[in-house]
Amino acid sequence: MENLIEVRDLHKSFGSLHAVNGVSLNIRRGEVLGFLGPNGAGKSTTMKMITGFIGPSSGSVSVCGHDVGTAPLAAKEKIGYLPEGAPAYGEMTPSQFLDFIADIRGLGGAGKTARIREVVEKINLGGVLNQSIETLSKGFKRRVGLAQAILHDPEVLILDEPTDGLDPNQKHEVRALIREMAPNKAIIISTHILEEVDAVCTRAAIIARGQLLFLGTPAELQARSARHNAVTMNVPASDAAAVTERLGGLPDILRIEPGETLGARQRLTALSRTGNPIFDVVHGALRAGDWAFSELFVEPGHLDEVFRTITTVARAPGEVTHS
Ligand SMILES: Nc1ncnc2c1ncn2[C@@H]1O[C@H](COP(=O)(O)OP(=O)(O)OP(=O)(O)O)[C@@H](O)[C@H]1O
Ligand SMILES: [Mg+2]
Repeated sequence: MENLIEVRDLHKSFGSLHAVNGVSLNIRRGEVLGFLGPNGAGKSTTMKMITGFIGPSSGSVSVCGHDVGTAPLAAKEKIGYLPEGAPAYGEMTPSQFLDFIADIRGLGGAGKTARIREVVEKINLGGVLNQSIETLSKGFKRRVGLAQAILHDPEVLILDEPTDGLDPNQKHEVRALIREMAPNKAIIISTHILEEVDAVCTRAAIIARGQLLFLGTPAELQARSARHNAVTMNVPASDAAAVTERLGGLPDILRIEPGETLGARQRLTALSRTGNPIFDVVHGALRAGDWAFSELFVEPGHLDEVFRTITTVARAPGEVTHS
């Protein structure tokens, strides 16, 4: 499928600060890219450059084949953008604001009214349509921002922390909406919620200090975890030392980590030496030893651990990890 977004070697400096330092990405139709990174990593700055809100120090972006620098209007017609903080005109009501955005986006006539109604329904804005935006709660302000971003049904959506400040129900609905829109669009969302990457994204990018440190699928990201394919078991506490010794001596197992003690029972976790599955090996050894095990389960891996490892390890400039 074709690339709807092409980002080539983007740089942005603010004085002596290199906020974005050589980011390149291609995003195809049907993809949802999750942009992760610590505070100040350069996520919002990169998104601002992709949408043409600010210009890069060097590098270029093209959206649906239009260069954002040299053909900004053609590119921006294709983009829906929810900026950081979801700014809007506070004195307007959501109804007036969406009407104004629809005019700017060139929607008119009956189509305009029908589209506004459809979006208001999708984002559950019906109850606040005639209240001034400045008096709305944080979550509703964000919803208004999301509504204006999708109003013209753009092919490219750039959403800076779309679920920030939403209640759990609304988070769920917005994720479902993103998944529903995804097949026909290229979408970039930034988020600090790692599970969100699993829930809505087809690819994940991790950025720190302005550099792209990881680009791959959520599953590849999870596979980086030391706990990926680890097996946790619950054994009698009196057998824990013997189980640890037996399993710890197997070639496929890196080591055994003790977990919680639950009365007379103890949890242990066997880590895979290579990251490959070890369930059968662990199961076989427990049965051979005739230990009264329970709760044998495979660990998927911890995204927060991978995130910490990737973003805190120093790397040479320009080094990107592709899975
Ligand atoms: N207009 C500006 N002038 C000076 N510095 C800026 C400007 N905009 C951003 N920066 C700096 O660039 C760096 C990257 O900021 P950016 O907002 O892109 O981070 P972020 O990854 O979106 O962080 P967060 O997770 O907190 O939203 C930060 O150090 C920030 O202070
Ligand atoms: Mg940001």
